[in-house]
Amino acid sequence: MKTTYYTATSLDGFLATADDSLDWLFSLGELNESSYPEFISGVGALAMGSATYEWMLRNADKVAAETGSPWPYTQPAWVFTSRTLPAIDGANIQFASGDVRTVHAAMRAAAGDRNLWIVGGGDLAGQFYDAGLLDEIIVQIGSATLGKGKPLFPRQALYPALKLQSVQQMGSGMAELRYQVQNPVQSDSAPNAPA
Ligand SMILES: NC(=O)c1ccc[n+]([C@@H]2O[C@H](COP(=O)([O-])OP(=O)(O)OC[C@H]3O[C@@H](n4cnc5c(N)ncnc54)[C@H](OP(=O)(O)O)[C@@H]3O)[C@@H](O)[C@H]2O)c1
Repeated sequence: MKTTYYTATSLDGFLATADDSLDWLFSLGELNESSYPEFISGVGALAMGSATYEWMLRNADKVAAETGSPWPYTQPAWVFTSRTLPAIDGANIQFASGDVRTVHAAMRAAAGDRNLWIVGGGDLAGQFYDAGLLDEIIVQIGSATLGKGKPLFPRQALYPALKLQSVQQMGSGMAELRYQVQNPVQSDSAPNAPA
């Protein structure tokens, strides 16, 4: 079982514009022609932050038109927030806050031998990284720059650096890079956190 941060980013390292728009992304590639169908088939549980969830709420009609449901995931999902947010009818969602290690244990239990997907945003993926719980980053780099926005991964992954495992071109709009996260220590402590 792997814990993977799987996402798309602009070339200059942003997941979304500063006002949480993803419109820039959709002209660059087609989800169903990417690695996504194979990736999601191996996912047993997923986690996202509240801004990502609120994008789903705001775009429920669009998501439903494309996938047949306002919540396209069948896997159990955890949404991190310190606030009370509306649920989506029929979605298997739990709201969570605080230490990602507690949620990671619950995700593992729910996922069986399948993988865990950290959907984003970048700081939430960073919290899993800080806790030594992130195994892999798969990132589709779009052929566009945004100048500013929501960061891909606001952390230093330097000592050790990430290990590049594959590079795949997806037309002229995207390139997919896969990285193994190298954690020096796997324990209950936070090996990647700043001292
Ligand atoms: N390009 C892509 O493929 C892609 C992928 C994923 C996301 N996105 C987009 O990128 C943007 C990401 O937004 P973002 O960077 O703000 O990240 P986010 O992770 O979606 O949301 C961040 C918020 O989640 C809550 N949160 C995070 N960790 C928490 C914790 N441990 N305990 C309690 N609450 C916690 C906090 O809000 P509150 O406590 O105030 O609720 C925090 O401000 C969104 O627009 C999303 O749609 C794009």
